[in-house]
Amino acid sequence: MADFSGIKTPAYFYDLDLLKKTLGVASREADRYGYRLHYAIKANNNPVILRIIREYGYGTDCVSGNEMLRALETGFTAGGMVLAGVGKTDVEIELAIKNDIFCINCESLEELEVASKIAGKLKKIVRVALRVNPSIKADTHRYITTGGEENKFGIVLPQLRQALDYCKNSAEIEFTGLHFHIGSQITSLDPFKKLCETVNRVWREFDITDYSGKMINLGGGYGIDYKKPETNSVPDFGSFFSLFAEYLELPRGTSVHFELGRSLVGQCGRILTRVLYTKQGAGKKFVIVDAGMTELIRPALYQAVHRIINVSSPGHPERYDVVGPVCESSDVFAKDIMLPRTLRGDMLHILSCGAYTESMNMNFNLREKPGSVYFSEGKIVPGEE
Ligand code: LLP
Repeated sequence: MADFSGIKTPAYFYDLDLLKKTLGVASREADRYGYRLHYAIKANNNPVILRIIREYGYGTDCVSGNEMLRALETGFTAGGMVLAGVGKTDVEIELAIKNDIFCINCESLEELEVASKIAGKLKKIVRVALRVNPSIKADTHRYITTGGEENKFGIVLPQLRQALDYCKNSAEIEFTGLHFHIGSQITSLDPFKKLCETVNRVWREFDITDYSGKMINLGGGYGIDYKKPETNSVPDFGSFFSLFAEYLELPRGTSVHFELGRSLVGQCGRILTRVLYTKQGAGKKFVIVDAGMTELIRPALYQAVHRIINVSSPGHPERYDVVGPVCESSDVFAKDIMLPRTLRGDMLHILSCGAYTESMNMNFNLREKPGSVYFSEGKIVPGEE
């Protein structure tokens, strides 16, 4: 590892070699079946990361006007861009239509009406995919399932026919196909197998081909290994894509798209943080670091467990709670973990912080946004931001 001594902490750290390796493996495995990959920008919108992802030829999955603008500024094409989200504003829909993006994933009958009206006003056609709520339980944290009946996302099956007919009858809408996304951080392939079965059934039962559907977007959601990030740094994209190749039964010529976020960027990022204080509490020892829930909210929000290592100390292992400095009792990164004897000034790394970390940064307590540090070929490199 590089010399981190001069780095101001906390900092977001990105291993660009690992990012490139991961992008390369994912696109190679997807290429075997002609699958198209969109990067879900919400996972990490850092411009340096985005530029590399663009160089690998990925499309984008945006959920706001600002994400669309950042993607376009970075050089991603509108033709490879989808706009998702349950609450798109008129301004965002207009931006998508004016830029002629690949398609809008519509989530309700009302949104279809709004999109078609805006397209009419602009004298343009809007390409639309219908996001279906497939009522599939993904085995993940309840805050990050999206395809269940209790979730706000997508059009439920009893309304799908009406939505399809609306598309067919609207002169401003070009129906492209269906969109599904069942949740995030799904580490078992079983829910994806169920997704394939549901897609096959819905495609047949609703005569999607007769509505001239030519595209299926299966969303993202493939998980990463938060427990063993060092040994399992690149997700098994081979097994993931081959599962779809095995179980999807769609008419020949249907183009198959995915929107991957976490699995592409999750393992390439870390938080670098220094120990401000150690103290003995009632029955436990605390390590208080200079990063907090403002820099990484996942443990506080989803009880996520990120592996933490002490890169300064080779000392004898002791048991600690690692906590941040923010005025919230939920500002805890880890409870009861073993670290080498840890002292004020030691540097800790919080691993698997490439996804939903920098992009979820907030300035509660008026904390400053940390800088980013990039690492490539054994050394710290400028990000050229
Ligand atoms: N497509 C749609 C429609 C989505 O809603 C999402 C993520 C993705 C694709 C990308 O999913 P991924 O491949 O990254 O799992 N903040 C949470 C995760 C929220 C995910 C939201 N949707 C976390 O930190 O775990």
